[in-house]
Parts: sequence; structure tokens; C-alpha cells
Amino acid sequence: MRIRPARRIKGRLRVPGDKSISHRAALIAALANGTSTISSFSTGADCAATLACLEALGVTIAKKEGNLVVNGVGRQGFKPATAPLDCGNSGSTMRMLAGVLAGQNLTTTLIGDKSLSARPMTRVIEPLEAMGATVTSHHGKPPLTIIGSDSLQPIAYDLPVSSAQVKSCVLLAALNAAGVTKVSESLVKSRDHTERMLQWFGASLSLRTLGTTQVVSVVGPANFSARPVTIPGDISSAAYFVAAAALLPNSELLIEDVGLNATRTEFLSLLKSFGLTIDLLHTRDESNEPVGNIRVSAEHRLIHSRTILSGASSAQMIDELSLLAVVGTQVPGGIEIRDAEELRLKESDRISATVTNLRSMGAAVKEFDDGLRVERSGLSGAKIKTYGDHRIAMAFTVAALLAEGESLIDDGECVRVSFPEFFEILESIVEQ
Ligand code: S3P
Repeated sequence: MRIRPARRIKGRLRVPGDKSISHRAALIAALANGTSTISSFSTGADCAATLACLEALGVTIAKKEGNLVVNGVGRQGFKPATAPLDCGNSGSTMRMLAGVLAGQNLTTTLIGDKSLSARPMTRVIEPLEAMGATVTSHHGKPPLTIIGSDSLQPIAYDLPVSSAQVKSCVLLAALNAAGVTKVSESLVKSRDHTERMLQWFGASLSLRTLGTTQVVSVVGPANFSARPVTIPGDISSAAYFVAAAALLPNSELLIEDVGLNATRTEFLSLLKSFGLTIDLLHTRDESNEPVGNIRVSAEHRLIHSRTILSGASSAQMIDELSLLAVVGTQVPGGIEIRDAEELRLKESDRISATVTNLRSMGAAVKEFDDGLRVERSGLSGAKIKTYGDHRIAMAFTVAALLAEGESLIDDGECVRVSFPEFFEILESIVEQ
């Protein structure tokens, strides 16, 4: 994929449905009794993997007038799969489905592609085994074989890593445990889409904040009925266009119907704190999720010295950190990102991939075990290595728009994991 430098961004658009919320909508609709219609479901391959796994477990899913119709089987109604279930590139699919399968009287094997097969699963194996499931793995990595139990025990679980996937895995298993399961997260509140979706479907769930600790409690066994769901646009997909429009002078961009859940908007808040003009309009709730329009106009002064991002802030914009490092090349003082060691465990080692590509483009960057520091630097077009990682491909496409000279992205195809329409939409709003 060849990317030429851009003069500005101008336009009005929508992005496809949120990936995180789509996974949850499909899984929870499958666990419900009755038929749920889901509109604006993610178009990415990750969510398609979740649907294919559910179908292999006996859930009937149809497409009707652009919507998804999921025939829920109830909380223990899954059928045995006849072959291992392929989660593709999707950590969310594997970790959350493991929670669902822990409470089924079935033995199921979950496999993934090369990247997913190298990602840590002990973080879900431990709580699921504490609840009474048996899970085997290859030294803590996929494939996972889950021997479920129809009599799981509730647990009280303190998340050892800030991970919404692990939290969700335990909450989904808790639907089939007899009693109250509690999951606590200290310091960082990770994305809360599972909690919101379970509430939307009427499961019994409560939330408490004790100092800096958030506790989610679920009462099982939980039987609930089908609901219609509207998925908001994916803010993590919108972020690439927001950043490009905010950094290219004289840009004007409106992105409609984007999810604005407070656990996902940290990146927007940070851009605003740099003096970039970003407004949230027409904010409202849909299917228990905040939604609104994002307007970006590039009439601003960049007013800040070095930003050091750490702790909760890094964790809350985990999917935007490679893009943020690209933004760091354009802002006075640069940006330092710390406490982000989890980034090394994503679809690629995103710290290493980001540092390598920033250096190829001529940026001054230092790598740390838990992050990186990038100085304000002029960028030159370069050959970008995506490592098959969709977010690296999209973040460095934005870098390429800001650079001098043409860049070459080695694998543009990998964006299909979360955002197949990325290049097409970009072409419709970019002026060269
Ligand atoms: C996700 C949570 C995050 C994020 C991933 C999607 C989710 O992962 O990086 O893209 O949908 O819950 P962790 O929860 O493992 O940090």
C-alpha cells in the first residue's frame, strides 16, 4: 500500500461498529433466551471469528437487512463443536469465549493464528480453574482446551493485570456460577462494555467503587432474554482520522455516531489537552453506551511541553498508544509513554514495532522495557513494517500522511482485522 503525504483532511463520515462492543453483543445475545437483532455490528475479521465460533457451537446467526440476527441458546445451551474453534487473530474472542465455555458441560479446543498462539492465556486459565473448569494450554499459550462444568463456583477475583478481556472472561463465566462472583480492579478502570451489555440484557450486576478500586458483582446463575442492540462506531478506528485531521493544518472532519464511553476517550482528552480542537456533539446513550459525534477542526496552537504518560492513562488508551507515539513526533516536547509493558503482548510487540518504524521515518526515539520516548521530529517517507498488526498499519499510515515523500506499508491487508474500510474511507477524506 503506497501512501503519499497529505495536505489536509476534509469530510464527514461514519466508522463501522465498535469491535469490543460487537464481540460482547454477539456472545451475550448467544447466551440469552430468544432472538436478538444487532445493528452496526463490526465488519472486522476479529468479530467474524467470534460469530464463526458461536455458529460452530450451535448458535444460529443470520444477516437480515444489514443487521445480525442471533438466536440465543440460553446460558448453557451450546452444542459440542466437532473441530477446534479458530479464533484467528483475536485475543478478545479466545479470552471471552473461554469464559463462556467454562460454564458449559463440553470440552472445546480454541486455536488461533501465529500471533494469537504466542499470546499469554494464563491470565484467564487461573480464574477459570479457580471457578471449577479445567483448562489445558501449551505452556500458558494457545491452543486452549476447556473442559467446562455446569456447576461452576463463584469467586472473588482481583485482576492481576489491567485487562478488560480477563475481567470479561470471569464475568461471563460467572453467569453460570451459583452465587455472587466479584471482580476487582485497583487503580485502572478498564473498558466496561461487558458490564454495560449485561445490564442492557437484564442480568443481575452491581458496580461499586471503594477508594481507587472498582468492584463488579454478578449474581449467577443468570437467565436473561434477548434484546435489540445498536453498536456505536468504533472510537479506536475513528482515532486514526481524528489524529490526522488534528495534525494537518486547515482540516475539518466530522465523525458521526461514535462510541464515547469514558473508558475509551482518554486519547481524545489528551489531544484536547495539547490545544487541539476536538468537540463532542449530539451526545446520547444507545443500548446503554454513550454515543456522539466527534468534530475536529485544525485551528489551534499546540501548547505543551513534554507529556509523560504513565499508569492509568497508558492503560486506558492501550489501543491508541502506537498512534500517540506518531502524534508525539508533531508536538512540542514530544511524548514519553511508560507503564505500557502490556503493549508488547498485543497482536505484535507494539513497543518494538512502533520504535522500529518511527526510526525508519527519521524520528528520534528511545525504547524502554515499558514504553518509549519520542521527540518532535520531521518524518520522511519510508518502508513500514506492520508485523501483520492492524493498529501498526493504521498508525503508520497516519505517520505517512504527515511525512515528506512517499511511504510503503508492507501489509495493508492486515487492517481487515478491525477496520476493512480504513483505506477506502481515508481516500475519501484526504486531500493531497
Ligand atoms: C479489549 C481489551 C484490550 C484491548 C483489546 C480489546 C476488549 O485488551 O487492547 O484490543 O475488547 O476487552 P486487554 O483487556 O487485554 O488489555
